[in-house]
Order: sequence, then structure tokens, then C-alpha cells
Amino acid sequence: MEVIITDSYEAMSAQAAKMIAQQILHKPSSVLGLATGSTPVGTYKELIRMHKEQGLDFSKVVTFNLDEYVGLPPSHNQSYRYFMDHNLFHHINVPTGHIHVPYGHAESVLDFCAWYESEIKRYGGIDIQILGIGGDGHIAFNEPGSSLGSRTRLKTLTQETITDNARFFANMDEVPRFAITMGVGTILEARKIIMLANGSKKAKIVAEAIEGPVSSQVSASALQLHRDVVVILDKEAASKLKRADYYKWVYDQKAKLMPALIGKAT
Ligand code: PGA
Repeated sequence: MEVIITDSYEAMSAQAAKMIAQQILHKPSSVLGLATGSTPVGTYKELIRMHKEQGLDFSKVVTFNLDEYVGLPPSHNQSYRYFMDHNLFHHINVPTGHIHVPYGHAESVLDFCAWYESEIKRYGGIDIQILGIGGDGHIAFNEPGSSLGSRTRLKTLTQETITDNARFFANMDEVPRFAITMGVGTILEARKIIMLANGSKKAKIVAEAIEGPVSSQVSASALQLHRDVVVILDKEAASKLKRADYYKWVYDQKAKLMPALIGKAT
């Protein structure tokens, strides 16, 4: 695991966007795994800037999003499809036909989930997966207790997540109870994973995920089993890491001696 501690949210976002851009330059038909939430918004802004100012080309890129609420149409302003359209897709040149976000109105969720998994395989698997981390350690909607081998499936949201989301809806009845989410096992099959976290609210769970035991109670801890993970943090999110000095030292040594190795598997 490579842990990169940056000075700010902007620096974290720039670092992540740079790695994604490198991946696209290296393989224009890259398959990107994308996440919603407030964390990756800055990364998406930077990718949009690179597209507009530097011509970063998404025309061959294929995307798969991690999750979506069940019951919300893509046009609903709280759906994850809407979020992605507005925060990224509408501002870059990725063809609509290359975009995959789980469909919250699928007639058979079971069939849809199996199809989603087979689509990821049909495109050759995910080259680079972006992740945020929830306050309870979830990645995608893999709430605590999710099997570390889980696949794309229907997930019942926790009361905590439902209450948390209530502020975005007119009333409690409208708040989705279920989501379709890639599983922890699906995520672990991505060839490279970048997990992002910022802010002091994430410090405790980041330390548990990176330095604590691997446990289904903290889904993000499963990333310790993956061979190519980069965790990019701002200094607040890194503030409870015991080995922060070591991670910084590793980064500095690499930056000095082998800059091309930053973001490569350690
Ligand atoms: P956030 O959510 O980026 O809005 O903090 C992260 C998550 O719940 O995965």
C-alpha cells in the first residue's frame, strides 16, 4: 500500500487526477471505476480542466460507477447518475454509450447485477478504481459486515446512512432504503485502486482501514489485500496514522530518486 499525505484537498485531488490522466495517456481505452460523494469532486474538476485546457481525451475511455440508489430514476437530482453527469460526464468527451452507472429502476435487480459484473469482464476489467471511504469504513455501499468476497448486489442501507441522507429529500418516505453496489470482491479485482479521504472526520476510520486488522466490519480494510493500492489523503485525514512519518519518508525518497515510481505498486 502506498500512502500519500498531501497538504490540502486541492493537492490530494490534483495528485489523483494526475494518476488517472497518466493511465488514460498510457491506455486511451482505459476502464475507469468511478465514485460519487463529496471527496472525488475536486479530482473530477481537475480532470475536466485537463480535458478543456490540455486536451485530455476521454473518447475511448469506458466508465463503471460503484453504486446507485434503488428507486430513483437517473434524472432525479439525488441519483448518482445525475451526480456523475453534472460533476464529470457532461464536461468531458466520454461517449454516453461508454458510461455505466447501476440502474436504480431495473425490473430485476438480480439480473441487472449479474449483467453489470459481466459487462465489467467484457471490457477486460477495471484498470483504475477511484474510491472514497464512508465514516463507517464503507467503500461503495458495502456497509459494515459486507462479505469481503461480495459481488455487485442489492444492499439494504443502514439506518445511519438513511438518516444521513434524509436532508437531501423532501420527506423521509422518499429516502431510498436500498442501493445496487459493486461488492468488495468486485472492487478488489480492479488492477489499481486509488482511495481518497480528506478532513479530520475521516481520520479515525482511515487509520483503522490502513493500519488496523482486515475485517468485514471496516470494508475499506480489505484494500490491504490488494497488490496495487494508493491512498491519497490530506493532512487532516492522515492525522491519526501511526506510521505517517514513514509514509512521508517513502514518498520523499521516491520523489527524489525515482519520480516515475510515485503511484506505482509498493
Ligand atoms: P463522501 O462519502 O465522499 O461524501 O465523504 C464517501 C463515502 O460515503 O463513500
